[in-house]
Parts: sequence; C-alpha cells; structure tokens
Amino acid sequence: MRQLERVRNEMLVSPRRSRGKPGESIGLLKSIVETHLLNEESTLYEPLRLRLGRNGPIDAMTREHRSIRQALGRLLSASDEYGAGRTRIGDLQFCFNSFRKEIGEHIEKEEKVLFWLADLKL
Ligand SMILES: [Fe+2]
Repeated sequence: MRQLERVRNEMLVSPRRSRGKPGESIGLLKSIVETHLLNEESTLYEPLRLRLGRNGPIDAMTREHRSIRQALGRLLSASDEYGAGRTRIGDLQFCFNSFRKEIGEHIEKEEKVLFWLADLKL
C-alpha cells in the first residue's frame, strides 16, 4: 500500500513534475503486486481450494486477482501513453483510481473472509 501511495502522490499531487516518473513507480508497483498475488495464490488459495473445492470463494478471489492484474495492465498502458505525451493525466488518474478501488475492495474481502477461512480450515 505504501507504493500505491507513492504512485498516487507522484501523479496526482504533482503531475507536471512527475511526467515520465509514474512509469517507474507503476512498474515497481506492478512487480510488488504481482509477487504478492503469486505468493497468496500458492500459500493460501491452493491449500484452501483443496479443502473447499471448486466454484467456491477461492475461485471468486482468483477471478478478482485476474481482474486486478488486468486493471494494473491498463494502468501501466495509460502510464506509457502519458509518458509518451499521447494521453492526459486525467486518463492515468482514472486508471489509477479504478485499480486502487479494485485492490482496496479485494483486500477488505480478504481480511473479512479469506483470513477467517484460513484460520478455520488450514
Ligand atoms: Fe488477494
């Protein structure tokens, strides 16, 4: 979440000074998020799926991971377009806000449901 705030600050607080920089921060954000998703999938999702079966909450959370990866891809593309001067900061901010909302809702669900399930079943 710290990297998320760093990206937000760079492009939302001082977009003019940060032209070109959001790409680096978003690239780092992508790497951090992807590592986190992969770790979660291997250490929590797979063991829970074995216990709970398919078509349950774990498959729903896996779909959310896919959606988060897509939102991150859109953010990275928007950042490239912005860095190349082909789009406005508003488009980048829109993608950032969408990604932030999506990952925020996902984390909230994990805290309320997934970790409770993990305590119960693993
Ligand atoms: Fe997750």
